[in-house]
Amino acid sequence: MTPPAPIAPRAVLFDVYGTLFDVHSVGARLDELYAGHGARVAALWRDKQIEYTRLASMSRRYRPFSDLTRRALRHACALLGLPLAPATEDELMGAYLRLAPFAENLGVLRELKARGVRAGVLSNGDPAMLEPVIAHAGFAGLLDPVLSAHEVKRFKTDDAVYALGPSALGLAAREIVFVSSNGWDAIGATWYGYTTLWVNRARQPLDPLDTAPTRTGSSLRDVLDFFPSNATSKS
Ligand code: LAC
Repeated sequence: MTPPAPIAPRAVLFDVYGTLFDVHSVGARLDELYAGHGARVAALWRDKQIEYTRLASMSRRYRPFSDLTRRALRHACALLGLPLAPATEDELMGAYLRLAPFAENLGVLRELKARGVRAGVLSNGDPAMLEPVIAHAGFAGLLDPVLSAHEVKRFKTDDAVYALGPSALGLAAREIVFVSSNGWDAIGATWYGYTTLWVNRARQPLDPLDTAPTRTGSSLRDVLDFFPSNATSKS
């Protein structure tokens, strides 16, 4: 088969957790609560959270991402034998609404806007989680649309979730650059048909599933290369 002709992308959709916001930024507070175990709790919390999205989606037992995130925290603490008082659980869930963005992100979102590129998000997060974390970082005026898996009650990598992007933007999937730091999400989006950028912040090897993202980068700034500005383009 001949590969499809290269196409100039016209919009961007970002994954949220791990891509725009650092889910491990709660680690410092976790370390205060659980001396020496903060990073381990944060990693287990994240792994269980993603595992539960897959279980819920594959078995058609949808629950909002916020609910699964809370249950994942409980399980992470239980696995490590750490106490989790209801007030601590609420505090940590609150921290998820104020996750730190990666340092370069605000500048990249501003630059996309300056270049006239529409940029939104497509996330497993439900609106009650997404809106506060986006607003807290000062990204609210820079991200439109904010698309949530909640709309279809499935989770990535179900096609129903990825289909929200082309439908909302009125573009073909390959005209949209889908950006994720989660390798599995970058692969799922590539399978769906998006042009993809895997921001491989953790410098992990590619999952060997016979599919590579369109491009792999190391910071969100790499998305700008898809949209050279007239002033600085050297090509
Ligand atoms: C999201 C998770 C998967 O934002 O990072 O969809």
